[in-house]
Amino acid sequence: MRRLKTAVLISGNGSNLQALLDATRGADHPAEIALVLSNKPDAYGLTRAQNAGVATAIIRHTDYPTRETFDAAMTETLRAHGIELVCLAGFMRVLSDEFVRAWEGRLINIHPSLLPAYKGLNTHARVLEAKETQHGATVHWVIAELDAGAPIIQQSLAITPDDTPETLQHRVHALEHTIYPQALRRVAEQLLSK
Ligand code: GRF
Repeated sequence: MRRLKTAVLISGNGSNLQALLDATRGADHPAEIALVLSNKPDAYGLTRAQNAGVATAIIRHTDYPTRETFDAAMTETLRAHGIELVCLAGFMRVLSDEFVRAWEGRLINIHPSLLPAYKGLNTHARVLEAKETQHGATVHWVIAELDAGAPIIQQSLAITPDDTPETLQHRVHALEHTIYPQALRRVAEQLLSK
């Protein structure tokens, strides 16, 4: 069975990366994680990749004068590894329009909110402040506008009176680790059948 060559872009811990590595370990999964790319040399996700025997690349954004040149270096490395799909998983850089265009239809992200609500950062604190009753996570296609692409899978949870930003972060992370592998399966099957 042909498997879709997938890269995961990270900047830190990489718990979502771990969920993707675990889910794609079996040969029956339509995606293969072929590369983990980090803009931070000390990202723990790089260790997770090495432990799983997956190739890694470090491209420091601070080595490039502009967002466009940094993104072009990433595209070059992704192409050199034959990458067909890019998963953002806690990648903390805003991407250039050129990068998004180059990977259009082949670029997905996970975001800790029920998009289109609560785009951007600090979502857990913001939903509590707004006295929301529902929160969750979304895997979505990436388009030039931040956190605005069509959802692929979304899952919600009920906020309880005892929740704090920390408990929500923990509970939303658990949802993320379930839906990201599901979304990857769905997208990989779609792209392989094209
Ligand atoms: C996750 O909450 C994800 O939704 C957001 O960044 C965080 C990454 O966490 N985009 P991890 O590095 O996967 O643990």
